[in-house]
Amino acid sequence: MRDREFLASLAQRFGTPLYAYDLDEVGRRLEDLRSILPATARLYYSLKANPLPALGNALGPACGAEVSSPGELAAALEAGFDRASILYTGPGKTESELRQALAAEVGHFSCESWAEVRRLARLAAASGVRPRVLLRVSPSEAPPAGLSMARESGRFGLAEATLLGGPEDRPDLDEAVELVGVHVYLGTQVRDAAALEATFRIGFAAAERVAGRLGLPLRVIDAGGGFPWPYATAGAAPSLAALEQPLAELCRALSEDEGCEVWFESGRYLCAAAGTLVARVLDVKLGSDGRRFVVLDAGINALGGLAGLGRLLTGSVSVIPLLAAPQGDEGLADVVGPLCTPLDVLARNVLVPHLAPGSLIAIPNVGAYGLTASLVAFLSRPFPVEVVYRAAGTIAAYRLSLSRDRIA
Ligand SMILES: Cc1ncc(COP(=O)(O)O)c(C=O)c1O
Repeated sequence: MRDREFLASLAQRFGTPLYAYDLDEVGRRLEDLRSILPATARLYYSLKANPLPALGNALGPACGAEVSSPGELAAALEAGFDRASILYTGPGKTESELRQALAAEVGHFSCESWAEVRRLARLAAASGVRPRVLLRVSPSEAPPAGLSMARESGRFGLAEATLLGGPEDRPDLDEAVELVGVHVYLGTQVRDAAALEATFRIGFAAAERVAGRLGLPLRVIDAGGGFPWPYATAGAAPSLAALEQPLAELCRALSEDEGCEVWFESGRYLCAAAGTLVARVLDVKLGSDGRRFVVLDAGINALGGLAGLGRLLTGSVSVIPLLAAPQGDEGLADVVGPLCTPLDVLARNVLVPHLAPGSLIAIPNVGAYGLTASLVAFLSRPFPVEVVYRAAGTIAAYRLSLSRDRIA
């Protein structure tokens, strides 16, 4: 997080709530992540973490773009990602979006079922292109505890168990699409290097089993990611340095034995640290049970990534005062937003500094799954400003907008 005076000056200039993104920090996180990944591995930036084109643009030359909607595809193109470096992923792709992605000539698709491969093949044949496809697989082997996607085996991708019937289960689509490999993504926010290594080993082994059994070429394994970073709380990720050697060995073996490229994906690790939410305190109130409420002008409409989606931020959110010199923690409080719903809570029972109406505060580490994962339309409040900056100063400021088009 950049110095408090600078963030406060942005709030004075642009108003609050405000997201400030430090592009130098994005560069540092990229360098850090690259230093533990094999030099030959390709890294994709997952725009779902933050689709703001300025962030993608800061990563563009070094990363591909992993997108999973027409909006993210447009953001990737606006950010300047090379079309061939775009990977289109995600469940439930519609015909219309597949057509748009084909027309944009994205480099690869990750398909979540044979039905989807068939749909893509049909649309591709009609437009005279032969897209490159990874088959997303949900491994049979249990990953380390706590990985959400793996708990729903077969919801994301094809369940490995249903794929091991043999080559006869593989539809003959080779003329229409080029099957190049396997995609495995087991979950976000994997806790540390050891859990990540275990996750990748499961993914590599499943990819090899599936490819071997189905007679699929294995030119690419997209091993996914899950590289962790704290959310809305100060601090940094645990060191991931212990991953470097095992990943180098795994990738070397795959490339020497099978000529297979390895890809990784990351959203959170690349962008979380770069983003800070600046908000203003509207009220500080005492409830009849003695509970203190700090009411901010930013609620789950501005920072809904966890709170608004049923996972309350308990005990962990960092509320950092700007301008006024920190006077120590005043005590426990619920940090709430301006929406008229009891669900508009950013944090319950957290230690907050001395705050009064008008105080400016900052919440760090919200560059990923911040604004983009929020309930922005609820209660029709103005959207936060998003400011991108480097050490040299402010580069640009944006305000997302929502419009209602009359369509009939
Ligand atoms: C397929 C896929 N790739 C990449 C990501 C990004 O994960 P993270 O932001 O933890 O790096 C996700 C997140 O859900 C995902 O579903």
